[in-house]
Amino acid sequence: MALLTQTPYKAKEFNLSGLVGISDHTLEVHFGLYGGYVKNTNLLTEQLFHLSEAHKETSLEYAELSRRLGFEYNGMVLHEWYFDNMTSSGGSDVAASSSLGRALAESFGDLDTWKRDFTAIGGMRGVGWAVTYLDPATNRLSNHWITLHQDGNIAGFKPIIVMDVWEHAFLLDYKPAERGKYIESFLANLDVAKAESRYLGTAERAIG
Ligand SMILES: [Fe+2]
Repeated sequence: MALLTQTPYKAKEFNLSGLVGISDHTLEVHFGLYGGYVKNTNLLTEQLFHLSEAHKETSLEYAELSRRLGFEYNGMVLHEWYFDNMTSSGGSDVAASSSLGRALAESFGDLDTWKRDFTAIGGMRGVGWAVTYLDPATNRLSNHWITLHQDGNIAGFKPIIVMDVWEHAFLLDYKPAERGKYIESFLANLDVAKAESRYLGTAERAIG
């Protein structure tokens, strides 16, 4: 729980109009859903604060609201990582010669294997996220499935490439069985410069 004296979170703005294969209508609906996580994160914080103020930290209500923190916070943060690693001004493949490309090849054998693995994880049944994470302790990259928003995030790992595979991310543009096409579109819109900067930023911090 955070103190109420802290500034509430504000929904960020993302200029993604004109993506390949992901319509502006989908984005509009998706931004609205993201805003709900920001709102609920602030609301939960407020409710927990008031319960704490009333010395009700051991109540069932406090426990249940506390359990929701990971869901709402991660719903907010993962969406920010997701929107922020797409670009409408020309997504591209990770270049083999880039720092991230070399690190992915070291971790997966080659870039195609990373992409195949990331795509397969994104295609898993159920709603959630596919994330390429960096382990700052070893500089190794690995792909992970996150159920909902909170189950499967690896503590201390840094997200490098984040893809939403909840159905709301693609059902307005594709049929339920066409998640693969959506994943192709996500990768076509990938902001590799952003992914690279996340990798370099976290790598530098890991070294420091
Ligand atoms: Fe989403």
